[in-house]
Amino acid sequence: GDGVFKYYSSGEWKKSSSGKSVPIINPTTRQPHFKVQACTQEEVNKLMEEAKTAQKSWAKTPLWKRAELLHKAAALLKEHKVPIAECLVKEIAKPSKDAATEAVRSGDLVSYCAEEGVRILGEGKFLVSDSFPGNERTKYCLTAKIPLGVILAIPLFNYPVNLAVSKIAPALIAGNSIVLKPPTQGAVAALHMVHCFHLAGFPKGLISCVTGRGSEIGDFLTMHPMVNCISFTGGDTGIAISKKAGMIPLQMELGGKDACIILDDADLDLAAANIVKGGFSYSGQRCTAVKVVLVMESVANALVDKVKAKVAKLTVGLPEDDSDITPVVTESSANFIEGLVVDAKQKGATFCQEYRREGNLIWPLLLDNVRSDMRIAWEEPFGPVLPVIRITSVEEGIHHCNASNFGLQGCVFTRDISKAILISDAMETGTVQINSAPARGPDHFPFQGLKDSGIGSQGITNSINMMTKIKTTVINLP
Ligand code: G3P
Repeated sequence: GDGVFKYYSSGEWKKSSSGKSVPIINPTTRQPHFKVQACTQEEVNKLMEEAKTAQKSWAKTPLWKRAELLHKAAALLKEHKVPIAECLVKEIAKPSKDAATEAVRSGDLVSYCAEEGVRILGEGKFLVSDSFPGNERTKYCLTAKIPLGVILAIPLFNYPVNLAVSKIAPALIAGNSIVLKPPTQGAVAALHMVHCFHLAGFPKGLISCVTGRGSEIGDFLTMHPMVNCISFTGGDTGIAISKKAGMIPLQMELGGKDACIILDDADLDLAAANIVKGGFSYSGQRCTAVKVVLVMESVANALVDKVKAKVAKLTVGLPEDDSDITPVVTESSANFIEGLVVDAKQKGATFCQEYRREGNLIWPLLLDNVRSDMRIAWEEPFGPVLPVIRITSVEEGIHHCNASNFGLQGCVFTRDISKAILISDAMETGTVQINSAPARGPDHFPFQGLKDSGIGSQGITNSINMMTKIKTTVINLP
């Protein structure tokens, strides 16, 4: 055809009536690689109507049948891992092995969701009235979990497939319909993922995938009266969405500034390995990346040396070659990262490597002796630049962590488990990892942020519950 990927609505692949497309720029070549449809508000209205209708009969489809279809989609996702991974390499410059892992992890997530869903939704509660003062046993109350309706899923570019299915699978097993708006970079990988659901044979209209410009359909989608829940992963846009959305449940994950606190009794080799993995995998473009190291002065030199040695071993280059460090997603992202680096330079940070950039490719950079007047101490680079702040007390580390507007995850390295637990309790974040880098997975673990990091809790179980509502029926006995 014209080389523009079609969007998915009414169980069919369609061209937009706008006649317009949105280019997807390959971060490596900085040239357009794919094009997707620039859908219109009218097209959004149509697929919303269909999502509403399809949901009604889907909610009445036996739970085991819903699970069966999800298992089929999961198997298809794994079978299609090669083409999906190829898209991820071209659209978001994800290293090729990580790209394949994302597809497989997504299949596993969908299966797990189907299994968990039949258990969670397969039972309700039975209550009796005479436990509350003044009541006889004349009322029996039955509870069930019912779907919310139409769920709008908006994932971020960094896991266009995995973050999408982490919203789609819980929604579907719970009897909801789905409208997916993938990130433009990663949209073709997401369309390919949707194709797996299409092949699995879900009813038409139940799943739609709409592509286009945020300026044209962004607010229109998030403020659409037929949307009954929004599950969003991204940046500041999420705060704007939460202010504009109607009276509907929101699930939001909006970034972080995950701190890594290193005590003087820590296993420094373990800490260094986790700092490099946590700080630099997918070039730091993860909400849960280690974004600031807070190390006790007494072990700081030793730790920085170990981290430096490991950073030197990172390969820098093409995602096709499975390099560790690959070009960041957009030129504006690279410019933003550079701004943080320049600010740190002007304010006297110690550069452990020379700053180097070619196009969107930024070489991994460790900045030592960062102080709190530097932007990098607080802002999220979403790139391969990691600040180290030297502290003289644990309290100072906790204070820095808690002074952040973010509160996603954090981690602490020490051999003293009691200390670790007290520090975990003191850190105002959704999760604290003891002796490992922050991470969302395994995908059934609860995942949530405090403060500007989000609303609600994710993870398979919590997402299924969040995408349902309690319905009660009370039997009144004579
Ligand atoms: O940035 C997305 C966030 O969900 C991180 O996931 O698996 O890299 O910890 P993960």
